[in-house]
Amino acid sequence: MKASKRYHPSREFSQKAHVRSMGAYRKLYQQALDTPEEFWGAQAEREIHWFQKWSHVFEWNPPFAKWFVGAKTNISYNCLDRHLSTWRKNRAAIIWEGEPGDQQVLTYQELHRRVCRFANVLKGLGLKAGDTSIIYMPMIPALPIAMLACARLGIAHSVVFGGFSAEALKTRIQDLEAKVVITADGGWRRGREIHLKATADEALADCPTVKDVVVCRRTGHEVAMHAGRDHWWHELEQSVSEVCEAEVLDSETPLFVLYTSGTTGKPKGIVHTTGGYMVEVACTMKWVFDLREEDTYWCAADIGWVTGHSYIVYGPLMEGATTVIYEGAPDYPQPDRIWRIIEKYKVNILYTSPTAIRAFIKNGEQWPRKHDLSSLRLLGSVGEPINPAAWEWYHKVIGHERCPIVDTWWQTETGSIMISPMPGAIPTKPGSATVPLPGIVADVVDLDGNTVEPGKEGFLIIRRAWPAMFRTLYRDPQRYGDQYWRRIPGNYLTGDAARRDKDGYFWILGRVDDVMNVSGHRLSTMELESALVRHPAVAEAAVVARPHEITGQAVVAFVTLKHGGGDGKDLVEELRSWVGHEIGSFAKPEQIRFVESLPKTRSGKIMRRLLREIVTTDKVAGDITTLEDLSVISRLSSQQEEES
Ligand code: PRX
Repeated sequence: MKASKRYHPSREFSQKAHVRSMGAYRKLYQQALDTPEEFWGAQAEREIHWFQKWSHVFEWNPPFAKWFVGAKTNISYNCLDRHLSTWRKNRAAIIWEGEPGDQQVLTYQELHRRVCRFANVLKGLGLKAGDTSIIYMPMIPALPIAMLACARLGIAHSVVFGGFSAEALKTRIQDLEAKVVITADGGWRRGREIHLKATADEALADCPTVKDVVVCRRTGHEVAMHAGRDHWWHELEQSVSEVCEAEVLDSETPLFVLYTSGTTGKPKGIVHTTGGYMVEVACTMKWVFDLREEDTYWCAADIGWVTGHSYIVYGPLMEGATTVIYEGAPDYPQPDRIWRIIEKYKVNILYTSPTAIRAFIKNGEQWPRKHDLSSLRLLGSVGEPINPAAWEWYHKVIGHERCPIVDTWWQTETGSIMISPMPGAIPTKPGSATVPLPGIVADVVDLDGNTVEPGKEGFLIIRRAWPAMFRTLYRDPQRYGDQYWRRIPGNYLTGDAARRDKDGYFWILGRVDDVMNVSGHRLSTMELESALVRHPAVAEAAVVARPHEITGQAVVAFVTLKHGGGDGKDLVEELRSWVGHEIGSFAKPEQIRFVESLPKTRSGKIMRRLLREIVTTDKVAGDITTLEDLSVISRLSSQQEEES
């Protein structure tokens, strides 16, 4: 393994940081390791307001965890009410910019008022603690308002990313048995309107549990309103009070369900609860983003994914920060939109993805150079491995060699950041997420759970439960246990491969299961394959990922057709649109390759490994629209496999 370059935090940065040295990090880590309950109890007291304290910090009935058992709290109260008696009352909580250039600044006081009003709207519809809601909205202030209003009442929300299709939305509404859907007429993306309400209507045709749909007006275009079911947000709001006390909720009250791709055709509902999630998300805002009172913080992700839940909405607001929310594409109408926003609002902390960084590199340095980026003091990366070249560019061109970079490894399941440098304490190495945060006992192991030597690849696992961890899979506790906790008994299996170097730094190598990562979006091989075989012309499909210079990975689908043969660009386009219809445009395969038969072992298993090799090395050259004959390689490889 070749030694990689190291970057040390500057003395100036370290001196002001929450955690200032490797020694200070080690001390925190050791405390959390030796006395976890004391450690987390102390964090919980410092970071969070509790209506009632816990009887004990932690309860572990493997694989089920409870944190801050018996405590009562409310995350909406912690994000809003408790700031109102401080100087933060009139601080900007949210600075929002729409893609067309419209703006809104909401102070904590104003945000509180709007959340209370909307919570009263939900109450007026008869919703209460224990109910579930689906939120399908563009990135406008109404989205965090809807989340905070649900949380205020103890209604578990499930935000569905606005890029998902009607079909995908329907599956989620049905699985969650949501009573209410909160949506908007539309939103703006790259100058085009995304017709959310129309898509929701298509999904709702088959969702009998939904009694009410609340529609926020964003684009102003006409939408169909179903009498008795659909209501305009602004109309319902007119007749409600702006006083709404936060419900006193148990620490383990479900806060949200986020559907994510797994290894089967069906997305799984990751369930997060309240108390533990709050504590660890709040701590990581300080440890990782080193948040200071004067900071303007921008996480440029989408609220539809976990990054947006924890680090656009709940984390920054719990900490009383100013969080920037931008509706549209970072390169619209020009490739410098993102840099303009940073200059305009004097953003201090930027958190984005490697895919975005690689796209900025491709657009050219002239775009960031046009803007004054001197307000930036910290940069973050999330969602996929960042290649050292992209890291170096981010460091040099955006951070002007001044800003530490935090490469944060975590997952929808983990709720909060798990492996990441503390920027004032940990020297960074481009491409490594560095070391686990306090309370996170990470390891790299073989299939039997034995730690592998430094430099060797293995499975990344977490050996102990942590406060922000998901509690179960919605309505599928068996799968939760089997898939995550029983494969290497008692340990959490992340699904990622990693290696650790001799300094104990973690290098994340990517997924080891049938999950792909395209532009930081999690896609499941099985989900894509089942979508493809639902098309009437398709007999079989096998999907693999190939490396892609911008999006990290790209999807390649091998397809056999029912009547044999297959050609023509039309069918390629039709199948791509089909996937767009079944899942969402972001899931469309980059390539569709028609084959006469899929390479299989003699026992009938599709040889994805072989297909992966084909798309990576392009051993089988060919026009993607003509039929490929994979049978020869298949036979050869099958023989080899069975002989070995
Ligand atoms: O493979 C890892 C990759 O993203 C997966 C989790 O995806 P998701 O649940 O959608 O959450 C993404 C945002 C937290 C992981 O299993 N991943 C995430 N962050 C990193 C990463 N891979 C390498 N380095 C990272 N910093």
